[in-house]
Amino acid sequence: MPKLQGFEFWSHTLRGARHVVAPMVDQSELAWRLLSRRHGAQLCYTPMLHAQVFVRDANYRKENLYCEVCPEDRPLIVQFCANDPEVFVQAALLAQDYCDAIDLNLGCPQMIAKRGHYGAFLQDEWDLLQRMILLAHEKLSVPVTCKIRVFPEIDKTVRYAQMLEKAGCQLLTVHGRTKEQKGPLSGAASWEHIKAVRKAVAIPVFANGNIQSLQDVERCIQDTGVQGVMSAEGNLHNPALFEGRSPAVWELAEEYLDIVREHPCPLSYVRAHLFKLWHHTLQVHQQLREELAKVKTLEGIAAVSQELKMRCQEEISRQEGAKPTGNLPFHWICQPYVRPGPRERSKEKAGARSKRALEEEEECGTEVLSKNKQKKQLRNPHKTFDPSLKPKYAKCDQCGNPKGNRCVFSLCRGCCKRRASKETADCPGHGLLFKTKLEKSLIWKGTQPELQEPQTATPGTPGGFSEVMSSALA
Ligand SMILES: Cc1cc2nc3c(=O)[nH]c(=O)nc-3n(C[C@H](O)[C@H](O)[C@H](O)COP(=O)(O)O)c2cc1C
Repeated sequence: MPKLQGFEFWSHTLRGARHVVAPMVDQSELAWRLLSRRHGAQLCYTPMLHAQVFVRDANYRKENLYCEVCPEDRPLIVQFCANDPEVFVQAALLAQDYCDAIDLNLGCPQMIAKRGHYGAFLQDEWDLLQRMILLAHEKLSVPVTCKIRVFPEIDKTVRYAQMLEKAGCQLLTVHGRTKEQKGPLSGAASWEHIKAVRKAVAIPVFANGNIQSLQDVERCIQDTGVQGVMSAEGNLHNPALFEGRSPAVWELAEEYLDIVREHPCPLSYVRAHLFKLWHHTLQVHQQLREELAKVKTLEGIAAVSQELKMRCQEEISRQEGAKPTGNLPFHWICQPYVRPGPRERSKEKAGARSKRALEEEEECGTEVLSKNKQKKQLRNPHKTFDPSLKPKYAKCDQCGNPKGNRCVFSLCRGCCKRRASKETADCPGHGLLFKTKLEKSLIWKGTQPELQEPQTATPGTPGGFSEVMSSALA
């Protein structure tokens, strides 16, 4: 049978999926996908797999794909990161019999992707991307798709999408954030960009970003005209999001743990899922957070889940916390978590934050800090390692050192001193005042005083011209 393309592929193979669970490293594993599918997800992506490792390591293939096969888990798209056409295609050939399409990750903005030269760090290498997609389109029996981030400029984003389409990409997921919008700087995704891409290409488009509820899904489809909507964090906090329900947290936790018993996965995945699912409840039942962090077995986790359920139910029966705070529903209801922006984050209390915030960043899939950086951040919770948040110094026009804020020449103190001395000019910004009161008054009256040739004095040396003039003013 010929390979289905574009809209045909979407409507037949993907069964017209509108509700899509995102690729999530360590989080979109089989058990979570099955849970999400039971609650309204119509298409799921595997976590990103490393193409090169997939090709060379049979165990990696087994653990991450071949042993994760389940008939209920279709349609399924396997995602790879890669930067070499041959390696990408070799990996895809080894995966294509287990899925409905192969996706190329062009959206990962993390430092690890920068070092590995993949994800969003390929978004300026159009020639390479063209070759990767062309070869995959030619060699694979299943379609090739891409997940991209946007450029700040809408027209460049559109040209980028068209280039991928032309190379053979059969479906595009557009995450409406730029590669700089990550972690605390995430901000809102731009549906404007997504809408422009949707209009400009003739393949199906999924929108990604800002999806926290079923209403968001409907609004996004309405506003942008996309075929489907992908959710990551929204799905992790409420796997029933696509059903338009917000069940009690223990209900979904218990169901997930049952699926994990049948389709085991590493305990760290389970723990991370429950941290997300119980996010709001753990703010209230802090002690359970510690227990969840310490426990070493699946049954141990199930016991914590049982305890959490009991405490919440007691709370409900005592009518404690009957009034939800602010606009949020009760903490035991699955609900979105809105990440604080940089300003709110810096307001968070030092003691309460530190360790917890670090944990949370790991949970969020944001960049994991090195041990040294974590230590530094524990000592100083306000410390940030984001280069874009580093204070930026205006530089001296001549030597590149920080310039004086109010220097009239835009120079650092050393360069200003030399120049002011040479030109016999004052720099009030640097406090370098070269003229005597008499000279100043003459200038004010419109008469130029006769000045000693400044070059004869060595600037900065005692008794030099500038020093003499400054002391005359003192
Ligand atoms: C825990 C986690 C893991 C992620 N792993 C991947 C991944 O493997 N591949 C990928 O393309 N994006 C990955 N992402 C990004 C999401 O797929 C998605 O693009 C991003 O979170 C924005 O969607 P959202 O606003 O619904 O969260 C990950 C996100 C999270 C939260």
